Amino acid sequence: MSAIDAVTRELLDKTEFLALVTEGSEGPHVVGNWGEYLRRLGIDGDRLVLPAGYYRKTEENLSRNGRVQVLVASKSVQGGHGPGQGCILRGTAEIQTEGEFSDRAKASFPWARGALVISVDSVEMQL
Ligand SMILES: Cc1cc2nc3c(=O)[nH]c(=O)nc-3n(C[C@H](O)[C@H](O)[C@H](O)COP(=O)(O)O)c2cc1C
Repeated sequence: MSAIDAVTRELLDKTEFLALVTEGSEGPHVVGNWGEYLRRLGIDGDRLVLPAGYYRKTEENLSRNGRVQVLVASKSVQGGHGPGQGCILRGTAEIQTEGEFSDRAKASFPWARGALVISVDSVEMQL
């Protein structure tokens, strides 16, 4: 069964940005990406594909520990208490500088050096 259910899919369709946390040697490291960029590159099963322009520290962190947490949210998705929902997606990630996803990222974003590919294995709703 897919980790990305209908509500998660709606959040990924509507979130303005994503916040991604990796574990660094000195603690958590947070970076961003745009929801629009995710929607341009597409969601491939349980994998999220994003353009990587920089992400040098993120890449270093991922080489030691591939686990990530990603926060997305939208006020226009219904939550349990009213308008507004968000979720934490947990999984593993890597930066791919060659292959299908990297080619896709470079074709859409000429500044990209590759793709940040996140494999989601669980989702936790927040509201
Ligand atoms: C809303 C938002 C969107 C961003 N989009 C990208 C992006 O598409 N690609 C990218 O490499 N960095 C993006 N960044 C910058 C990253 O957060 C980060 O600062 C940069 O990539 C350096 O990463 P590093 O600290 O892992 O080296 C974005 C930041 C924000 C706040």
